Amino acid sequence: MAVSGCGPARTPFVDLAPFLPLEGLAEVHDEICLALARLPSGFTGGSHRSLGILPKNREDDVFGDYGEVFATLDDEGLATLAKLGDSPRWRAPLDELRAATLGEERDLPLSWAQQRWLLIRHRVYFPWTTFHELMPVDRWDDKDDLAGKDFTREAKAFFPKTLRFLRRLPLVGIGRASILGLAPFHHGTVHRDAEPDAEPAEFIMLVPTADKQLFVWDDAAACAHPAPKTHALWFHDGDYHGVAAAPYFRYSVRVDGPFNDEFRQKIGIQEPLR
Ligand SMILES: [Fe+2]
Repeated sequence: MAVSGCGPARTPFVDLAPFLPLEGLAEVHDEICLALARLPSGFTGGSHRSLGILPKNREDDVFGDYGEVFATLDDEGLATLAKLGDSPRWRAPLDELRAATLGEERDLPLSWAQQRWLLIRHRVYFPWTTFHELMPVDRWDDKDDLAGKDFTREAKAFFPKTLRFLRRLPLVGIGRASILGLAPFHHGTVHRDAEPDAEPAEFIMLVPTADKQLFVWDDAAACAHPAPKTHALWFHDGDYHGVAAAPYFRYSVRVDGPFNDEFRQKIGIQEPLR
């Protein structure tokens, strides 16, 4: 579906660039590009429709959905999927696997081979094919908890300038950090990360190249609010949002953690579109 603009309505985005210490972002970009080139990478997305987080008008944006595939696999297919798993949880009997939830931050994490098999054999569409967790969480809802969190050993080894940069951001602490990259011609399926009346999640989205083509989708009016071309953004992630396709690789860094009071007051928080 083509994305049509909503016109000159208020923007649901906050351009954070004027409020952040962005010196050194060009060096961070160089470091991230080099590390992404050297490190193996996983996928993310791929089950937005079965998670029920798509807007009514954009359900056809998703092609194969691994939640739907998982629910319809026969025993032989499920055994094949289980054999490709890294986690010991995949060694459970098939009837236990059928009762579990699938995917990142859920009961059964997907290995690289499982993601590839779902892509190739079942035509699942994974929007983000370069996904690195600098600071992972077990559950999405844990992203604002700061206790016991740390960057991974891999992040400390390959992204030292990036981590120094992130630690300077005006957050009380960091609860989750990840790099999300889109391959050329991939679109990020429109979805929302939270219910629209949830407390607004506090996070900073860094876009070192300032050209991610992110948009917030107004499903009632069936139109898109494009994000400003800037190096740092916030929006209410209970609003539907997606990324338009482009003929080149794009990425962003999402950093979750409570804003410090001064920063929160400076930027203001907007209500979701609903
Ligand atoms: Fe999202």
